[in-house]
Amino acid sequence: MGGLTLDKILVLDFGSQYTQLIARRVRELNVYCEIHPCHLSADEIRAFAPRGIILSGGPAGVYQEQAPTCSREIFELGVPLLGICYGQQLMMNQLGGQVQPSRRREYGRAELEILDDGDLFRGLGRSERTPVWMSHGDRVEKPAPGFEVIGRSDNSPYAALRDGARRFYGLQFHPEVVHTPQGKRMLSNFVLEICACRPEWTMANFIDLAREEISARVGSDEVILALSGGVDSSVVAALLHRALGRQLHCLFVDNGLLRLGEARSVEEVFGSHFGMDLVVVDAAVEFVQALAGVQDPERKRKIIGQKFIEVFEREAGRFARARFLAQGTLYPDVIESRSVRGPSATIKSHHNVGGLPERMNLELIEPLKELFKDEVRVLGRELGLPREIVERQPFPGPGLGVRVIGEITPERLDTLRRADAILQQEADQAGLLAETWQTFAVLLPVRSVGVMGDERTYEQTLVIRSVTSVDGMTADWARLPYDTLAIISNRIINEVRGVNRVLYDISSKPPATIEWE
Ligand code: XMP
Repeated sequence: MGGLTLDKILVLDFGSQYTQLIARRVRELNVYCEIHPCHLSADEIRAFAPRGIILSGGPAGVYQEQAPTCSREIFELGVPLLGICYGQQLMMNQLGGQVQPSRRREYGRAELEILDDGDLFRGLGRSERTPVWMSHGDRVEKPAPGFEVIGRSDNSPYAALRDGARRFYGLQFHPEVVHTPQGKRMLSNFVLEICACRPEWTMANFIDLAREEISARVGSDEVILALSGGVDSSVVAALLHRALGRQLHCLFVDNGLLRLGEARSVEEVFGSHFGMDLVVVDAAVEFVQALAGVQDPERKRKIIGQKFIEVFEREAGRFARARFLAQGTLYPDVIESRSVRGPSATIKSHHNVGGLPERMNLELIEPLKELFKDEVRVLGRELGLPREIVERQPFPGPGLGVRVIGEITPERLDTLRRADAILQQEADQAGLLAETWQTFAVLLPVRSVGVMGDERTYEQTLVIRSVTSVDGMTADWARLPYDTLAIISNRIINEVRGVNRVLYDISSKPPATIEWE
């Protein structure tokens, strides 16, 4: 890449639920951007060398005691600033304006009247009205010296402010959310025009930068990767392979809890097609034996987790020269672990290989830790991974083990696997896999009576679960078309022996979870 230096935007986080969205919108403009807690030190800010800074929203009020603040040096750096909601209020507060609780809290849609379409609102039209998304209890009562109004709404006379000389901007509303349809244009005006960032953050450039960095760090040492067949570990594999070739060793543990054909497709893609050094460990019998007779969901998860570590450690022993363990950590995990809201707001209990690097005395290498999920998918495509892998829906580490409710036996696993394969096929054909967060089957330990031909049956029950979600933290059941459900149900009952009833799960999360166990 010959020393490409990317133009960067810094997002200082004051705890808004939308902070990640700001960063994603900036990245969509092909400009690199990082989120840091608002209290980042002046030295760190200077070292980051941003071409512009965005101050996020947040739940606090600027006049409260202990209200979060940031280094005052951001006002002296000579770079453009954009304050959003709390960010705008903080800016006014620090620069000599006035902020007060507004008489009416304003949540939801409002109309912004554009008073100046010169720079931040370029292309939007003077005197035009455009919908914006408000979510605030406080508002600016008096702008700081040097600021002029460039947009207002019925409840916010200072909905948009500008200090043209210093290139400081403040918005009372949220340009980063989809409910502000022109928000993307505003952010683009800020990032590409006002900050003059070059749009060079592309996954093609990322590959070059990452290769250099990985090669420099790993040198002639070797790396082990636990390949699961999911998007993240697959993209890590493809990227590391590009950088390191046969210095990368991929271990794929077939735990017998995978979907139909999964192990074979991993071998085909990574072994045959990419020619990676791939070891497939068939541990199905071992896992199913360890799970025999176990019904309790938490115990199942524990057993599967422990078994995985045991098998992985044992099999990884063959790569005695390895010094690194690669993991598909993504940027949201990194942000959440150092969030200003504190780790308690965002704890996730789904870490499948937690503790492994320490136990095995390996250094962690996490080449995706700067990327959002959508970027990882683009990167995967860029690296030549097939669509089935890049667009794959999330699949839990414990696999079908938490989807066969009750006792896990090879027969019941087989039943679920075949039913799930039909569901996947039909859902894919109907375009539903792209539209839903997850669509999968669950086998219940409930039998019911039916008739088939002239015969009475007494067979098992299968549930179809299909949900929409942005991040898996909350979810709604998908409104799948009846006709598609009819085809799926018919095929499953006719083609999968042992199932005579299919149900559709219409529970949202919360209070239900996405998985059944
Ligand atoms: P729940 O069932 O808690 O799941 O609503 C939220 C999301 O996490 C996935 N999930 C897991 N992922 N290891 C994982 O890697 C796990 O043990 C695990 N359990 C649940 C689930 O599929 C959903 O997308």
